[in-house]
Amino acid sequence: MKFFIDTANLDQIKEAQDLGVLDGVTTNPSLMAKEGITGEQNILDHYVKICNLVEGPVSAEVISTDFEGMVKEGERLAELHENIVVKIPMIKDGVKALKYFSSKGIRTNCTLVFSAGQALLAAKAGASFVSPFIGRLDDVSTDGLELIEQIRLIYDNYMYDTEILAASVRHTMHVIKCAEIGADVMTGPLSSITGLLNHPLTDIGLEKFLADYKKGNS
Ligand code: E4P
Repeated sequence: MKFFIDTANLDQIKEAQDLGVLDGVTTNPSLMAKEGITGEQNILDHYVKICNLVEGPVSAEVISTDFEGMVKEGERLAELHENIVVKIPMIKDGVKALKYFSSKGIRTNCTLVFSAGQALLAAKAGASFVSPFIGRLDDVSTDGLELIEQIRLIYDNYMYDTEILAASVRHTMHVIKCAEIGADVMTGPLSSITGLLNHPLTDIGLEKFLADYKKGNS
């Protein structure tokens, strides 16, 4: 399973990259605003900075909600860097835009997906990635992981190429369960990646190994 980090924070992206397990980055307008990145040119410049930090896809989201606007914005984003994947919302004009970009060979990530039907549409429109938001479904007492299972089954039935990008991952159990189900990618905060390191028996074991070494070599 590929690991993407869901942030626009350059330090966190660098930390995940330095760990050697990062495969890409996802951003959204809220994450850009959280980092204080505002204004069209600053936003575009920030995407380039992110692309220069990682080897892998970097999702950059359009703001337009009409077909023409999404095409114009998406083409501009795609020209910024070869790593850019244009992030398109799951709305009617978004489906048309997915199809358009697919015919032009521009990679897309269909975002704000909350149902299997939406994921099926995204695949039929040729999306490169589909982003079901599992954490936000959990927030409204609906099992987000069940949606990943459903989409995996549907995509396997028809051998769709669209990669399932489990998004809105909140913690390590989401990551592990997504890996069990067979999501192609997960995107989450840095803590959902570094949290996988933690086990108290590892810490206790290492402490004992080092203490025993010290005893034997003093
Ligand atoms: C996905 O691409 C989104 O940016 C993201 O995963 C949303 O996560 P959230 O629900 O934690 O905001």
